Amino acid sequence: MSPAGAEERAGEGPPTAVVTGAARGLGLHLAGHLTGRGFDVLCVVRSSADAARIGAVTMRPVVGDVRDPALGRRLAALVGDGAVDLLVHNAGVGHPPHTLRELPPDDVLESVSTHCLGPLRLTQALLPALCRSSRATVLHVSSRWGSFAAAAEDGPGARHYAYRIGKAAQNMMSLCLRQELAGHGIRVAAVHPGALRTAMGAADATEDPATAALELVRLVLAEHREDLPPFMSRAGDPHPW
Ligand SMILES: NC(=O)c1ccc[n+]([C@@H]2O[C@H](COP(=O)([O-])OP(=O)(O)OC[C@H]3O[C@@H](n4cnc5c(N)ncnc54)[C@H](OP(=O)(O)O)[C@@H]3O)[C@@H](O)[C@H]2O)c1
Repeated sequence: MSPAGAEERAGEGPPTAVVTGAARGLGLHLAGHLTGRGFDVLCVVRSSADAARIGAVTMRPVVGDVRDPALGRRLAALVGDGAVDLLVHNAGVGHPPHTLRELPPDDVLESVSTHCLGPLRLTQALLPALCRSSRATVLHVSSRWGSFAAAAEDGPGARHYAYRIGKAAQNMMSLCLRQELAGHGIRVAAVHPGALRTAMGAADATEDPATAALELVRLVLAEHREDLPPFMSRAGDPHPW
């Protein structure tokens, strides 16, 4: 079996992936490339209109919000006795920069709920299914903005309190999970996907999300990569914390 269970298991059907934030941007391309590689992809989207659009192209939509504690139970029920070979926590939300005086503290709560607590709950709910895979991977689509090293260098950009705090929390959660789940044979990594031309991307972002998704899928499914750096670029190089 390849690292993320990319080959069809004899008599067990195709490998299964769960991708959150799959309605658009990087997540939509990740889901598409995984489908192209033979995965059965459960796509978490937030609206029925997006579900109808995704469902028309052979991916399985699941309408839900990653902040909803019930979502993990619903996904686990859909998977049943099957395995989850790849869980991609891609859903993300950006907030504008604020000075401390202007900052709505609830932005921080929303960011931590979306990037850290939601993914933590989903992984908890899907742990039995991940353990049923012979080589499962949990991938957190994080950001260089969650890096303490990058924030310390960036100066004024560090005013993105909500996004940076949420992504830093996601990175720490990813590292804690990695240490525990290694004992179950599950790989866990966080990735900075690049500066992508998506709705959330910065105004000067130049990178194509479809290409980024393809490179990321290739990296995660690469036969020769037994392990992944704990925090990495999409090329698989270690990223500074
Ligand atoms: N773009 C970049 O340059 C860049 C750089 C570094 C990291 N990232 C990370 O890459 C990931 C993908 O971002 P993107 O660039 O593709 O942005 P995007 O086009 O804005 O897509 C974000 C997706 O996340 C979904 N989402 C947001 N909150 C959610 C929630 N609570 N529950 C379920 N889904 C939710 C959105 O759903 P709706 O469609 O319903 O709004 C959307 O489909 C994010 O985690 C982001 O932080 C992006």
